[in-house]
Amino acid sequence: MLTSIRLTNWINQINSLRHLCDMTNWSICSLMKPKIQALDRERELPDDSYIVSKTDMKGRIIYANRIFQDMAQYTEKELLNIQHNIIRHPDMPRGAFKLVWDTIASGQEVFAYVKNLAKDGKYYWVFANITPDRDAKGAITGYLSVRRKPRRDALAIIEPIYHQMLSIEQQYPAKTQMDYSIGFFVDALSSKGVSYEEFILSI
Ligand SMILES: Cc1cc2nc3c(=O)[nH]c(=O)nc-3n(C[C@H](O)[C@H](O)[C@H](O)COP(=O)(O)O)c2cc1C
Repeated sequence: MLTSIRLTNWINQINSLRHLCDMTNWSICSLMKPKIQALDRERELPDDSYIVSKTDMKGRIIYANRIFQDMAQYTEKELLNIQHNIIRHPDMPRGAFKLVWDTIASGQEVFAYVKNLAKDGKYYWVFANITPDRDAKGAITGYLSVRRKPRRDALAIIEPIYHQMLSIEQQYPAKTQMDYSIGFFVDALSSKGVSYEEFILSI
């Protein structure tokens, strides 16, 4: 009896610490992130469904619609005030997110294909449009993302690019790996003579 109360207290403490970690995004906290085993099983977003979320300036979720919850298999309570990387899939290169953050932090919208990891280990692909939210004076107050189901032929183009970026990142230390993976992507785009946005909207 006493052992089971102690165990419950211990689990509660770990969970509170995890929540604090998600709210703060301290780097030590990546060790606390619940490990989800990524499965090679897909959950497809229905054609007419849109996943919507809003974040604060630091990427903590402040709104997640019902479709988000269903696709990611988290309750609203599990998502609110938590870093958006809760659904980060290990197949996604860090460079792809840097491109997203650099663009939205500069006040522009961005489009991106993203592979996400649900709580049950399944993955789901989305085509996201992320825009800054502004107050009456035009200052950025947070971000809004609306995602739809991506076309299969677009995924057939973006997936090998992300794969290549990820394998480049794995060859370098964390500090410089994104420079190399983004460098690869930028070189590929300039050899086609297109900008990132032209490319992403054309596939
Ligand atoms: C509005 C908004 C929506 C986002 N949506 C996603 C998403 O669907 N999946 C994802 O992995 N990251 C998303 N991100 C990016 C995450 O904040 C984070 O940068 C990314 O998951 C990489 O996490 P990491 O820095 O821990 O590697 C979003 C960020 C913002 C601001």
